Amino acid sequence: MKKLASLFILFTSILFFQNQSISAEKPKFLETDWTFKGLFGKYDRGALQRGYQVYTEVCAACHSMQYLSYRNLAEPGGPEFTEEEAKFIAASFEVLDGPNSDGEMFTRPAKLSDKFVMPYENVEASKAANGGAYPPDMSVLAKARKGGADYIYSLLLGYDEPPADIKLDDGVYYNKFMYGNKIKMSAPLSDGLVEYNDGTEATKEQMAKDITTFLMWSAEPHLETRHKTGFRVIVYLIILSVLVYLTMKKIWSRVETKI
Ligand code: HEC
Repeated sequence: MKKLASLFILFTSILFFQNQSISAEKPKFLETDWTFKGLFGKYDRGALQRGYQVYTEVCAACHSMQYLSYRNLAEPGGPEFTEEEAKFIAASFEVLDGPNSDGEMFTRPAKLSDKFVMPYENVEASKAANGGAYPPDMSVLAKARKGGADYIYSLLLGYDEPPADIKLDDGVYYNKFMYGNKIKMSAPLSDGLVEYNDGTEATKEQMAKDITTFLMWSAEPHLETRHKTGFRVIVYLIILSVLVYLTMKKIWSRVETKI
């Protein structure tokens, strides 16, 4: 019994101190308004289209999105490019296909049914090119990380000069929001890095918000239908409750008159 009690005390104190150190070193996430939060939340189409642009012009150099196909770009609930636009986007990439009748592999422009092309042939190649760190696949990253959209947005804007007591190796950068504050990805965004097709000014914050919205959609493409269904279910339940209440009153009123 004594042993159990001391073990319990040990565990709770470890948990307590761990929490303390985590909360001491992790600053609060940066805040921004997300259009997709809340019961009526929807993705902002403009942000999704701009986010795709940031992905393909910046992040796609290192990060894959292996679960997305070019056709997803034209589907309802997503960036909603027209089918022609999505075909045009797909055709700007080359994929390996084959073998043909001569038994040889060949490259061809991508089609709507193709998955997003990968920046590296395999995980090892991606590690070799990035100082041993693997740029994670971004298809569901927004759901895989604690803090979701807020975390990714903050991480992208969280680069800073390291405090004097932190030494950084080559290829390692200081980031306020990364676990342990050290990240092997240099700051990917800088003001004016892309030129938005819709004329929006490409500040760092704007790009961080747009790419995060895009990553949120890829991780949760059915959010809008889910919200719609949720709302309908609530309305249905309210109507049902009213009907049940009225029926109950009617039935019991008969019982009362008899007594
Ligand atoms: C030059 C290559 C490169 C580019 C470009 C790049 N990244 Fe990364 N990224 C990496 C590497 C490498 C890691 C792994 C870092 C680590 O584990 O220390 C990473 C990690 C991440 C992580 C995960 C951090 C975590 O919690 O583990 C996120 C989120 C991320 N990148 C987002 C982006 C976004 C968004 C863009 C485009 C705006 C982008 N990256 C562009 C190389 C890159």
